[in-house]
Amino acid sequence: MNMGFKRAGLAIAVLLATALALYFIFIPAQGDYPKSFGFGKTATAADIATVDFDIRPDGKGLPAGEGRADSGRVIYVAKCAACHGADGKEIKGVKLPGPPLVTSAKGKSKTIGNYWPYATTLFDYVKRTMPYNAPGSLSNDEVYALSAYLLSANKFISENTVMNARSLPKVVMPARDLFVRDDRKGGNEVK
Ligand code: HEC
Repeated sequence: MNMGFKRAGLAIAVLLATALALYFIFIPAQGDYPKSFGFGKTATAADIATVDFDIRPDGKGLPAGEGRADSGRVIYVAKCAACHGADGKEIKGVKLPGPPLVTSAKGKSKTIGNYWPYATTLFDYVKRTMPYNAPGSLSNDEVYALSAYLLSANKFISENTVMNARSLPKVVMPARDLFVRDDRKGGNEVK
């Protein structure tokens, strides 16, 4: 074998040995990770309370409070319009950060108006998740008012109807009968 080959062989062997050594030095064995990476913070009881509720289609779980479309519109403009548009309707050729919330004659999107089966979901969803940049920041009165505004903008209630734990579950959504209960065994059948 000539010297050139020997040298090349040695160089490869040294390289491999170095790579292997570096691997064992820098890749910690499993289980070596620290208990905490110092990210985030422990959820307080108050943090948990902002999401720990469950509002049913029949209104079970709705809190006290109330609101109307006129005050809801004011809150909508201040806290929702930036992402959902000035009146919540689809704008042809414009992609807003949030989906349209009000069904329009020309719009093609699914909205809470043509797709959501229960009005009470609006309360649960908005209270839990919106505004997108500050979830959990709305009071119950504000969420009732926003629900009233969005339901009246979709023409399901009049502008003057007060939304509260009694009236919200009574709003019949047009999409209600488009859904069927999943009664398959092992599915979501109600026992
Ligand atoms: C920073 C942007 C932003 C703001 C502000 C905001 N939203 Fe949203 N909203 C979104 C996005 C994004 C989604 C879609 C989230 C998803 O599908 O996971 C959404 C979804 C929704 C939905 C569900 C719509 C559907 O058809 O699924 C409702 C209802 C809603 N928002 C209401 C509100 C209300 C009421 C406010 C004001 C209090 C608000 N949003 C403020 C970004 C925003």
